[in-house]
Amino acid sequence: MAVETKTEKDKDSASLYRPVFCRIVRISDLTPTEKLFRIEMPEGRDLNQKPGQFVQVSILGLGEAPISVSSSPTRRGYFELGVRNAGALTNALHQLKVGDEVGIRGPFGTFFDVEKFKGKDMLLISGGCGLAPMRSLIQYCEDRRGEFGKTFVIYGAKAPADVLYKDELEIWQGSDIFETHVTVDNIPQGTCYDGHVGLITTLIPPLEIEPEKSIAVVVGPPVMYRFVIMELKKKGIREEQIVVSLERYMKCGVGKCGHCTIEHLYCCLDGPVFWFNEISNLRGAI
Ligand SMILES: Cc1cc2nc3c(=O)[nH]c(=O)nc-3n(C[C@H](O)[C@H](O)[C@H](O)COP(=O)(O)OP(=O)(O)OC[C@H]3O[C@@H](n4cnc5c(N)ncnc54)[C@H](O)[C@@H]3O)c2cc1C
Ligand code: FES
Repeated sequence: MAVETKTEKDKDSASLYRPVFCRIVRISDLTPTEKLFRIEMPEGRDLNQKPGQFVQVSILGLGEAPISVSSSPTRRGYFELGVRNAGALTNALHQLKVGDEVGIRGPFGTFFDVEKFKGKDMLLISGGCGLAPMRSLIQYCEDRRGEFGKTFVIYGAKAPADVLYKDELEIWQGSDIFETHVTVDNIPQGTCYDGHVGLITTLIPPLEIEPEKSIAVVVGPPVMYRFVIMELKKKGIREEQIVVSLERYMKCGVGKCGHCTIEHLYCCLDGPVFWFNEISNLRGAI
């Protein structure tokens, strides 16, 4: 029988805490405040993330922030992070150039359990920055198209300028793999836009779905969950068919500091991805 030695154990726990320095190989602007970073691990290794997991990104001297992996593990040799310039760490990240290095710990957290989604119709519903983790699942469905039933991509942003991954949304809209619907809450005066206007909840009633064989995945700002889930229930989708990904303030990312608790759960370990029926009764979860 293989016995785990102390050295192996130490090495394992060290890799939870010690960042691996990885090279930025491509940076693209998504919006004026969001950038997409393509990153390579040393020696061409894969990150081996599952869709929906996050990494802790660090810059020496500044600290760390949890960021969802935005690319699918089916895209090998690199991973991508869509990052909003929100504060000290992410602002410093936005100043980096191709060739610079960042520290990466992870991948951490629960994930979209694609094995359980096989053969199901999928409603992939995201709002705002929620498209960052959702993109990893959308790309996965794109690359493993035969494994899932009818797949809807539903996305809402505040205004046209805030729409993330515009080029890919256009590709998904033109593709026969997905039925894609995009909306914005409003159009600022003087903006040229001819798409759908209205809250994301307005996109759900017209969808032609078969509720008994559907899974809904919902990721977005806190305010979105309650209303989107209300609409899903009206379509006949039950709580146990809904998966959500939640954001909490995080520090360690590995269940040690207690910053991310939702009652008895650690969002970094037990989440960020949850079946809705498992958390719907927890105070402050949604
Ligand atoms: C699991 C997880 C996945 C995430 N994925 C992404 C991602 O893919 N892309 C992305 O841009 N951001 C993501 N975030 C949010 C990101 O981690 C925070 O914005 C982070 O604090 C930025 O660090 P900072 O030092 O730049 O800003 P800070 O100085 O830490 O904070 C900037 C502002 O954001 C607020 N804030 C910090 N953390 C959170 C939080 N968890 N929820 C709500 N508000 C917060 C602060 O109160 C402050 O107003 C994710 C967070 C979690 C927990
Ligand atoms: S972030 Fe430290 S316990 Fe979850």
